[in-house]
Amino acid sequence: MQQQEQQKSLNHVITNNSKEHALKILITGASGFIGSRLVSKLCSSPSFHSKKHEIACITRNVESLTGRFNERVKIIKADASNYRELLKAMTGIDVAFYLIHSMEGSSKDWKKFAERDRIAAENFAKAATECRVKRIIYLGGLNNETNNGRLSGHMRSRAQVGDILKTSSAKVTIFRAAVILGQGGGSFQMLQYLVERLPAMICPKWVLTKSQPISVDDVVTYLVQSIDVKDTEDRSFDIGGPDVLSYLDMMKRYGKMINKSIKIIIIPFLTPRLSSYWVDLITPLKASLARPLIDSLKHEATVKDDTIQQIIPVKLKSFEESIKAAKEEQIRKANLTKKERTSHSLNNKILMISLFAMSAIGSTYYILDSRPEIFHANWLVLSALWYFGIAFSIYFVTKNARLGAMTAGIIGWVTLAFWLTDNIYTVLGHSLIANSPNTVMTLRNFVGVAISALVVAASHNIFHKIRIHDL
Ligand SMILES: NC(=O)c1ccc[n+]([C@@H]2O[C@H](COP(=O)([O-])OP(=O)(O)OC[C@H]3O[C@@H](n4cnc5c(N)ncnc54)[C@H](OP(=O)(O)O)[C@@H]3O)[C@@H](O)[C@H]2O)c1
Repeated sequence: MQQQEQQKSLNHVITNNSKEHALKILITGASGFIGSRLVSKLCSSPSFHSKKHEIACITRNVESLTGRFNERVKIIKADASNYRELLKAMTGIDVAFYLIHSMEGSSKDWKKFAERDRIAAENFAKAATECRVKRIIYLGGLNNETNNGRLSGHMRSRAQVGDILKTSSAKVTIFRAAVILGQGGGSFQMLQYLVERLPAMICPKWVLTKSQPISVDDVVTYLVQSIDVKDTEDRSFDIGGPDVLSYLDMMKRYGKMINKSIKIIIIPFLTPRLSSYWVDLITPLKASLARPLIDSLKHEATVKDDTIQQIIPVKLKSFEESIKAAKEEQIRKANLTKKERTSHSLNNKILMISLFAMSAIGSTYYILDSRPEIFHANWLVLSALWYFGIAFSIYFVTKNARLGAMTAGIIGWVTLAFWLTDNIYTVLGHSLIANSPNTVMTLRNFVGVAISALVVAASHNIFHKIRIHDL
């Protein structure tokens, strides 16, 4: 109902505008979390259907957008770090959305994000001036830190991009948002999987910082409506939802929504980098994506000036409504990718069965073996650790967390090496671990080698594919 009303007022604004003049709109970052929704929303507007507005998107990888939007949306191959390509794409454009974000690639590439963002923004501002683009609309990050020097590199870079865009001759509108909640967005995934997969958490201090999460639908509504609202020209606006919450509050409220109570212990250390590695292992989010989210959570990010609500009144979704909408969309998407999920769950089953088989074969040491060494304290401790490791892996494999596949892989390799070493006497003529095993034990070891190799292969497969199938 609320969404229908928003869409009605959006259609009204766009219809009014289209009576005046048709617009050529360029969207950058159209393959991304925000940009893809922006294109879809613009495509559902009446002015697009009456062929008044023309929409073009730029991407470095055209295949990623092929067939994704309405066939009238023009897909242009352009890299913002290449001025000539950008110039060509921006020729004749009236309104350009800047939704480029350079935090991607390996951790080595990642370190250069600020430079890449600066170059892209400089090229964009210059090309906009040369092509006489009338408006630039940019979505940046929100924080209440007054001393820019104390900001993380990521947040400084987001602010710098806004400053660079303002040097163009276009009228620039900047929206600043903190946590954006929606299906496919990093913040929602991080929250969802941490709460769903862990019974208890040790959290760093940043989970106590106040933020003002906003639904991705509301963000896109602001972006679209600003095209036609003159009062948004040459201004910056903070945008946020109706609830001011810390990440800890968000985890607790999400836990309540799914009837799960999680135990959380706050510790003063655990840097954003370490936190992002942990998130990488538990959730489908890569460390390089988790890091900017965690960085932005270090600084308080609440809306101090809500002028935008008078200029573009939006009935904002509460935290719970935003999560509900994200989950509903997730379920719809999950149904679409059922085939991929089937193959993933088959891999998961193979790993689980091979882990159970490996532990069963390991237990035969206490049935088949007559060697006294296996009852020595150090062997018993190692064996207890081995069983604990397998149980730990099984727990996280059932939760679909990469940590499970990673632990299973390590245990699989260690076990494989151990059983091969136990059988090395068949090659060397003497044993390296204890007394040489008898024929039955030797056969058991060879079966164990085959099963642990299966654990290694299945865990490797899942570790590298889990992100794709888990989204
Ligand atoms: N996500 C959030 O929670 C959040 C919160 C607050 C603010 N924001 C802001 O919202 C904006 C969009 O964020 P997002 O989460 O939608 O980003 P995203 O999903 O990471 O997408 C980034 C986009 O940047 C494009 N890109 C990167 N380098 C490029 C280059 N050299 N040339 C052309 N395109 C390039 C990519 O396009 P191709 O790969 O197709 O070329 C991709 O579509 C950012 O400015 C971000 O600061 C996001």
